[in-house]
Amino acid sequence: MKTEALKKLLESMTLAEKIGQLVQWNYAALAMTDAEVTGPETLQLSADAMKYFGSVLNFSSADEMIRLQKQYLAGQEHPVPLLFMMDVIHGYRTAFPIPLAQAGSFDPDLVKECARAASAEAAAGGVHLTFTPMVDHVRDPRWGRVMESCGEDPYLSGIMGAAQVEGFRGKDLTDKGTLAVCVKHYAGYGAPEGGRDYNQAELSEHVLREWYLPAYKACLDAGADMIMPSFNSLNGLPSVANPWLMNQVLRDEWRFEGAVISDYNALDELITQGVAENRQHAAVQAMNCGCDIDMVSGCYASDLEKAVREGLISEDQINTAAMRVLKVKNDLGLFEDPFRGASADPETVNRLAREHRPLAEKAAIASAVLLKNTGVLPFDKAAKRIAVIGPFADSREIVGAWCCNCDTRETVTVAEGIRTLLPDAEVTVVTGCSARIGDTDGSMIGEAAHAAENADCVILCVGEEMECSGEGRSRASISLPGMQAELVRRVAGANPNTAVVLFGGRPLDLTPVEKIAPAMLEMWMPGTEGGTAAAKLLFGDAEPCGKLAMSFPKSAGQLPLFYARSNTGRPKQAPEDEYQPYCSNYMDCGNLPLYSFGHGLTYTEFRYDELRSEKTELRAGEDLNVTVRLTNTGKRTGTETVQLYINDKFSSVVTPVQKLAAFGRITLAPGESSEISLTVSHERMKLWNFAGQSVIEPGAFEISAGYADHLLLTQTFTVS
Ligand code: NOJ
Repeated sequence: MKTEALKKLLESMTLAEKIGQLVQWNYAALAMTDAEVTGPETLQLSADAMKYFGSVLNFSSADEMIRLQKQYLAGQEHPVPLLFMMDVIHGYRTAFPIPLAQAGSFDPDLVKECARAASAEAAAGGVHLTFTPMVDHVRDPRWGRVMESCGEDPYLSGIMGAAQVEGFRGKDLTDKGTLAVCVKHYAGYGAPEGGRDYNQAELSEHVLREWYLPAYKACLDAGADMIMPSFNSLNGLPSVANPWLMNQVLRDEWRFEGAVISDYNALDELITQGVAENRQHAAVQAMNCGCDIDMVSGCYASDLEKAVREGLISEDQINTAAMRVLKVKNDLGLFEDPFRGASADPETVNRLAREHRPLAEKAAIASAVLLKNTGVLPFDKAAKRIAVIGPFADSREIVGAWCCNCDTRETVTVAEGIRTLLPDAEVTVVTGCSARIGDTDGSMIGEAAHAAENADCVILCVGEEMECSGEGRSRASISLPGMQAELVRRVAGANPNTAVVLFGGRPLDLTPVEKIAPAMLEMWMPGTEGGTAAAKLLFGDAEPCGKLAMSFPKSAGQLPLFYARSNTGRPKQAPEDEYQPYCSNYMDCGNLPLYSFGHGLTYTEFRYDELRSEKTELRAGEDLNVTVRLTNTGKRTGTETVQLYINDKFSSVVTPVQKLAAFGRITLAPGESSEISLTVSHERMKLWNFAGQSVIEPGAFEISAGYADHLLLTQTFTVS
């Protein structure tokens, strides 16, 4: 529909119809089904108040969508199609690795491909818009939602978030296999105090501008259609009622013209948070902060019309908001085709899911991170007796906490992956103890150790259950739950040819495991083909190449912990494991993480030979071209993610000691040397100064290759 026609449609609508566009209901509330509900159940309004609405979330099939769409359109005087939304976070039917894992591939093209595949499946399943990407900046793995994020570096998050936006949206939203996207959770949701979900975040403007806001902006620049303010209060105000965030930054500075949707029931929660006296007050505040859609609280449905009549909200505000919603519908081509490629035949999604399995395997391989290897990996494929031990040895519950319509029965387990890869080997599976928090039953450990003793190699699959990460899943301790640490101790003690394979949605405290495990492979929640990927990696049919998008602490007491820290006036000079009085360090723990952001081994070795920058003197605003020469000094072909870090030597504000500036991947055969060229954008040289500007300050900078806290080659350049 042309914009003029859209305007005419809006003009023809009554106030109640326009407000209806701003109301979103849960499918379950409308259809009285048991479809997934991702928040507290909200009040049921009268049939009158429920008459008009504009969008729906949490339905489970194309069939449901088609039925409701038909029913709704048939009952309306101005039939405006409903917009169907869902959390397609890391897959729809096919589960790809969780976003935190995918970010560690450092491969935006792959991330885009996974999003593309997920959108094709979801669109066939009747979804129009996904609540993705989630690019909350995260520094504390006690917060269970780190699994949905792209990790602790805003530059990487921005790139991965933008790749998701491009993957989901495709070239043109009128293409039926695409989805519109909603970036979330704006802003600071990743910094809840104590890592406890929904908790307040207190962040200075400086920290917000440098670390927390850029990734959302990158996703909006990539074309995101919608943005979701976060649940948490930020510096004293919940985001949906925070005029600085919503009006000043989002609308005035960033000029975002797309739609804003509240998070689940967030308007009503303004009352619980103590900043709204009642539902009308909540609705008025959110409307005044440019929140276009009220997700399920019903505050707009029950109170907005009255607020207009009382002059608290103008009809112009309603028009602007309704128009934004209509625009998303129009961009999706819903006026021409309200069913938009939804296929009531489940075979369509099944067929797509079958086609996407190789991609799921590729992504799981690329996202896995080899944390440690004393040389036991890769295992010899001639192994005759293989013990696969632990709660995740034969588990299908490795797809990840937020893969909406995937069928875990289709997941390949680690034991299955190994049996397929090595059909002649004798594979013994001992599921060992459970991964449940608080479980004290270690009765299977003896059997597990016995199986390990009698095996040529042992694959010990431990970690966290899927339900341990995701929304509302904060932990105070991030060590291996239950008796698993003891399981590792006994099994690794029984057979030194043991690799620990880790599953879960967050960086864990692996200090006790690292001391005894000869090798550790982090698979995260790898998705549908996780077992195939693990088997291939463990037996050398695939090369590990993933890097950490989030640091693993030595202890939860170090949290929040991140690589891009600022220097103190009293930095620690002593070795990591020594305490230095009157310096910034702990008496009982080192400062550094166990594994830093950017860490990840391969089955070969890379020597960094040379780092050359094209220029040593730049004018502010110029980019810097850098070349890094590497040699594969090992015996296998491998892929290295070359990372460049920047440090501003002297500036008007304290800057981080290292900040990711560019990255790229290079594959080299044994003995091969080659160069990779990377561009450090001038944007990476900027800082947020105390006058509230983003500027490049003249002076010396360092550029280094390596990874966080392990910088190998450094060069200096100056900016005038
Ligand atoms: C609440 C979550 O915070 C958000 O990420 C999600 O998109 C909505 N629920 C809808 O499920």
